[in-house]
Amino acid sequence: MSTIAASSAPPKRFKKMLSKVPPTRSAEPHAETLQIRPVRHTDLDAVIAIDTMVTGLEKRAYWNSLYRRYADAVATGQHFLVAVQGEETVGFAIGEVRDWEFGAPPCGWVFAIDVHPQARLAGAATQLLKAICDNFRKAGVSKVRTMLSRDNTLILSFFRSQGMMIGPFIPLELDLEP
Ligand SMILES: CC(C)(COP(=O)(O)OP(=O)(O)OC[C@H]1O[C@@H](n2cnc3c(N)ncnc32)[C@H](O)[C@@H]1OP(=O)(O)O)[C@@H](O)C(=O)NCCC(=O)NCCS
Repeated sequence: MSTIAASSAPPKRFKKMLSKVPPTRSAEPHAETLQIRPVRHTDLDAVIAIDTMVTGLEKRAYWNSLYRRYADAVATGQHFLVAVQGEETVGFAIGEVRDWEFGAPPCGWVFAIDVHPQARLAGAATQLLKAICDNFRKAGVSKVRTMLSRDNTLILSFFRSQGMMIGPFIPLELDLEP
């Protein structure tokens, strides 16, 4: 069973505080019209544009390399999914099954999830995460993990809303001398 489970949403007043980029499209639920599918090469421009919008940095070479490694790599436990509304690619999620990393039994890792600011709060990220977890389950793993920046309260709110809790690992880092 996955650790992802539905839980209560944060109060509306917190939503207003946490949302750095307010959604400008109608927040009417239109998740039922959303399609979640594996990435295609034609999605890449939209994926790069969303990432650039969220991070402020365009990384075309990185995304091309990620596409080459993750598209059609389902057999090796890698998943690059997109959310499509009509003709428009409005979000993406990337994850993979990693075996015995940090000594832990195989588990699913989600290492990117982004939704276009104008398509947020309509369930796109929820559906992307659910689809990626379904894939992990099919691969036989029973746990999903992720890592996030501790000051990114938006992504933390989202993962908490999906039932994710603090895990057993702590990150450590060191500045390497040249
Ligand atoms: C976090 C993110 C993926 C959520 O996408 P989304 O499609 O809007 O999410 P959903 O509509 O599925 O929301 C599911 C739940 O997450 C929580 N949530 C989502 N946006 C929220 C916000 N702005 N404030 C508070 N809670 C929020 C809510 O509990 C929501 O459930 P509810 O609508 O029933 O209250 C999106 O806001 C995003 O791409 N943010 C930028 C991510 C980022 O910083 N990436 C860089 C590091 S990887």
